[in-house]
Amino acid sequence: LSTNAFAHNILQWFETNKRDLPWRNTKNPYIIWLSEIILQQTRVAQGLPYFEKFLANYPTVEDLAAAPSEEIMRLWQGLGYYSRARNLHFCAQQVVNEYGGSFPTSYKELLKLKGVGSYTAAAIASFAFDEPVAVVDGNVFRVLARYFGIATDIASHAGKKEFEVLANEVLPPSKAGSYNQAIMEFGALHCTPNKPNCDTCPLVRSCVAFTNNLVQDLPVKINK
Ligand code: ADE
Repeated sequence: LSTNAFAHNILQWFETNKRDLPWRNTKNPYIIWLSEIILQQTRVAQGLPYFEKFLANYPTVEDLAAAPSEEIMRLWQGLGYYSRARNLHFCAQQVVNEYGGSFPTSYKELLKLKGVGSYTAAAIASFAFDEPVAVVDGNVFRVLARYFGIATDIASHAGKKEFEVLANEVLPPSKAGSYNQAIMEFGALHCTPNKPNCDTCPLVRSCVAFTNNLVQDLPVKINK
């Protein structure tokens, strides 16, 4: 029951505090995939103009698949991690050639796409198709570690597994897409790494980290 309250409060916070981002006003898996690849290891403010540029040049996955590699690499200039751009092109061709131009609709099938790992597959599956699978990124680690008071190392295999299990337990199955976006946005804007806004937090009364003065100590990340 307390987990339902957690999800409920996160969703309620999201409704009044979410940023109006272009990839949030669509269920189109191509647009969602494009945004998630661009946003990997990239801040929203930096990724946004690239997202707009790519979507304007390649409105569909067919357009992207048919584009010359050099053109894609040129448009990607300045974003870094250039393997992302190569995988982007390869994946677009995969969707056209192996899936008839329609993105796969399940988490399991999305994982077969080039450059699509568990985070991106969960994002596309839940945002576009409302499949109840939790996204687990740095924001999710932090929010869950603090609220539930979990000190397991998020860099360890056991830690990743523990957080993934918990994330899927607290996910409300009928609201997977909006809840996943909500917890990431809550971590990005409210439960931030430094100076989180505990004084105005809707979850503070049941936050284990706050209650035990551990907010600055969680999540635990041991660098190897
Ligand atoms: N960072 C990664 N994915 C994101 C999304 N969908 N919205 C905002 N920031 C993100």
